[in-house]
Amino acid sequence: MTEVLDSRGIDAWRAAERGTVALVPTMGALHDGHRRLIARAHEMADAVAVSIFVNPLQFGPGEDFERYPRDLEADRAICRADGVDAIFAPELHEMYPREPEVTVSAGRMGAVFEGAARPGHFDGVLTVVAKLFQRVQPDVAVFGQKDVQQLALVERLVADLDLGVRIESVPIVRDDDGLALSSRNRYLSTTEREIALLLPRALDAARAEPTAQQAQDAARRTLTDAEHRHPEFSLDYATLVERATFTECPPDFRGEAVLVLAARVGATRLIDNATLAFV
Ligand code: PAJ
Repeated sequence: MTEVLDSRGIDAWRAAERGTVALVPTMGALHDGHRRLIARAHEMADAVAVSIFVNPLQFGPGEDFERYPRDLEADRAICRADGVDAIFAPELHEMYPREPEVTVSAGRMGAVFEGAARPGHFDGVLTVVAKLFQRVQPDVAVFGQKDVQQLALVERLVADLDLGVRIESVPIVRDDDGLALSSRNRYLSTTEREIALLLPRALDAARAEPTAQQAQDAARRTLTDAEHRHPEFSLDYATLVERATFTECPPDFRGEAVLVLAARVGATRLIDNATLAFV
């Protein structure tokens, strides 16, 4: 039986847990991407906890905090089917009994790309991740490569603040048509979804190129062409970065890098990325 626990409940569960514990932090509206993280968590530890909390601190004014999809019953059914041992689903007032005064600063890496488009977003993410780690005391936590900047920042959080949690990551899970799964995909109309496929297409275009410069150019070409053809599409960035630091790669870069993409389709902001190697 997968129980839904509040803060006290998770404390009691953790205190009774003798083996290793893996935590999968989520905001709910669980899909096959999240399920892949849960499967990985089972491989990594004796017991698996999933947290479900739509964290207001990481949403900017005018973003979708209020309308973010929430369906605890459906999420619970998925967790049960996937053998999750505990669901930590705190209420807002349990996580933030008052406006926090002290928060985590994501620094320079938190102010570029997604952080530039969404000021304060990564401070909010790292603050809640630190609180979840503190509460659940996991041995390992599993994150998706879909949010690759978040993943890189969580790795820095753990390293810089000596949190002692092992961070494990899982490759992007995509729909059959190539679109990366996201709880926000449900906002897309049928036409918008078609247009959204330009993101994975741009990644494919980049994969075919031999050099860093050509790969980035190919992705940008695909996406700027799309902007001309579809007024509802607007490109934010398409840039090749070094995975650990999120600094831009020089044109002659050799080694492994991440091509990060962000675009708006109608009212929905979408991100995608691919790891590319240049010899
Ligand atoms: P959420 O968007 O619910 O995502 C939870 C985890 O699922 C993240 O690690 C994310 O990268 C992963 N994920 C989502 N879609 C994926 C996909 N298609 N393939 C692989 N992994 C995928 O990310 C958050 O919540 C929040 O910022 C959180 C870390 C919980 C802090 O509030």
